[in-house]
Amino acid sequence: MVSTLTSLHLITACSGALVFCFWLYTRRGWRPNLPPGVCGLQGFLNLPSVDGKIWLQILELNRQHGDLASASLLGTHVILIGSAKIAEDLIEKRSVNYSDRPRSVMCGELSGWGKIMLLSNYNDWFRAHRKLFAQEIGSNSTVAKFHRMIEFETRRSLRCILDDPARLQAHVRKNFTSIILRISHGYVTQEGDDPLVELAHTANSQLSMASAPGLYYVDIIPFLKYIPSWLPGAGFKRRAKEYAAVLHDLVEIPHNYVKSQLAAGTALPSFSSRILGKQDLTEELEDNLKWAAATMYQGGADTANSVGYAFYLAMTLHPRVMKKAQEELDSVVGVRRLPTFADRPSLPYLDALVTELLRWHTPAPITMRSTRVDDEYNGYFIPAGSYIFVNIWAMLRDERTYTNPLEFRPERFLGDNPEPHPGSVCFGFGRRRCPGYFIGHSSLWLMCAQALAAFDISKCVENGVEITPEFNLVGEILAHQAPFKCSIKPRSSQAEALVRQEFSLSE
Ligand code: HEM
Repeated sequence: MVSTLTSLHLITACSGALVFCFWLYTRRGWRPNLPPGVCGLQGFLNLPSVDGKIWLQILELNRQHGDLASASLLGTHVILIGSAKIAEDLIEKRSVNYSDRPRSVMCGELSGWGKIMLLSNYNDWFRAHRKLFAQEIGSNSTVAKFHRMIEFETRRSLRCILDDPARLQAHVRKNFTSIILRISHGYVTQEGDDPLVELAHTANSQLSMASAPGLYYVDIIPFLKYIPSWLPGAGFKRRAKEYAAVLHDLVEIPHNYVKSQLAAGTALPSFSSRILGKQDLTEELEDNLKWAAATMYQGGADTANSVGYAFYLAMTLHPRVMKKAQEELDSVVGVRRLPTFADRPSLPYLDALVTELLRWHTPAPITMRSTRVDDEYNGYFIPAGSYIFVNIWAMLRDERTYTNPLEFRPERFLGDNPEPHPGSVCFGFGRRRCPGYFIGHSSLWLMCAQALAAFDISKCVENGVEITPEFNLVGEILAHQAPFKCSIKPRSSQAEALVRQEFSLSE
């Protein structure tokens, strides 16, 4: 009896201690000097609700707790970075420790996206892919060989917008996807809807959903990945299977296309065809190439077109800016031809407009990292394995950096005291900075230049009422402006004729 009582006391005491430890653990975080923020379940339940926009949620926490804040639950620490200075200090200057991605069970493991560069950890596989990217599109000079093709695709897309402005978003998406598919796989998209453009769009939407922080419980409790798919509540496993099938197509279909074109002797020069044609091609190199080319295709088919679509919104909302850029184009280029890359150095206002666009609209509002080892910053402890959320969106709207940041004002980048160029933030940081920077920026610039030379973009009028669209960024790690209406008309019959003029790929 006595020993039973003792055992009972012992069990009660141990349970009490465990509950206390758990409470302490979830309430205070594992280390007391984590950056300030929210801890434990209650902290998470009280997170500000901001319409599903995680960048606004992080902004709110950084406002409450400082530019380096934290959120901890069950031993997982999320570090929230809200200033460009801290991002530079940690992610750029200590990049050895800050170049992995957080573990992503739903997207990286169950859906198979872990072999795509965006989700891969900083390892040999990743480095091999970055190297392949750098050789193909890693500088302005490597990208210059694609200028004529970009001009061709942009002209093609302007014609589609002219004929069918109601499907603006689809035409813009097709423009950027066509450019990247030419480079990655030598694939020429067909007129009208193209299956590979649609496939990339579907895959990117799924990627964004599957990798959205906190959307799937399996990312918080990884062992859930072992539960059978047929169990109630295992819907995420069935969904992951669907995502994996789409990813399989994204990787295999264009790769097999290049192989069949090579076999038939009809392959256009491309990133894939060049490597596949090597005498010393190994299975390992082919696998690397297949995934690197799919990464290029997937990466180039989303962010740039998100900015391209936002350009039309910016012009609809800011006619003063549009007119000023058109005046510059008319005086430098004239009205007898459309602008080309050769005009770029003579068009400073247009350059500033594109820079402002990259600040104003953020297609990747947050980026994520995870730490390899313990670190310390300004006296705060950042444990190994922390998830680091970098709020790109907030940095580009930081009043300490940009005057009246909500205004669309290209002039902020001109004159003797220009404000900081957003390029060091909007394309990400350190060893994971966007490898599509040169091709993305160039094709975006040309689209803006030619659209401004050819079109007047304005608010549309329905039943006598002028419709003012809203800036409404929606999405998760990949974000877009919500669909909006605007009016797109040729600036003159001469401008229309220029858009419709035959354009050959060879000069
Ligand atoms: C204007 C257009 C673009 C913007 C604003 C943009 C922005 C970004 C950002 C913010 C990141 C995250 C970087 C980080 O984690 O620090 C990223 C990554 C990436 N981008 Fe872009 N991007 C653009 C165009 C492109 C294009 C055209 C391609 C493809 C050719 C591309 C391919 C990638 C890839 C593969 C990654 C993953 C890099 C990694 O994880 O190491 N992007 N981009």
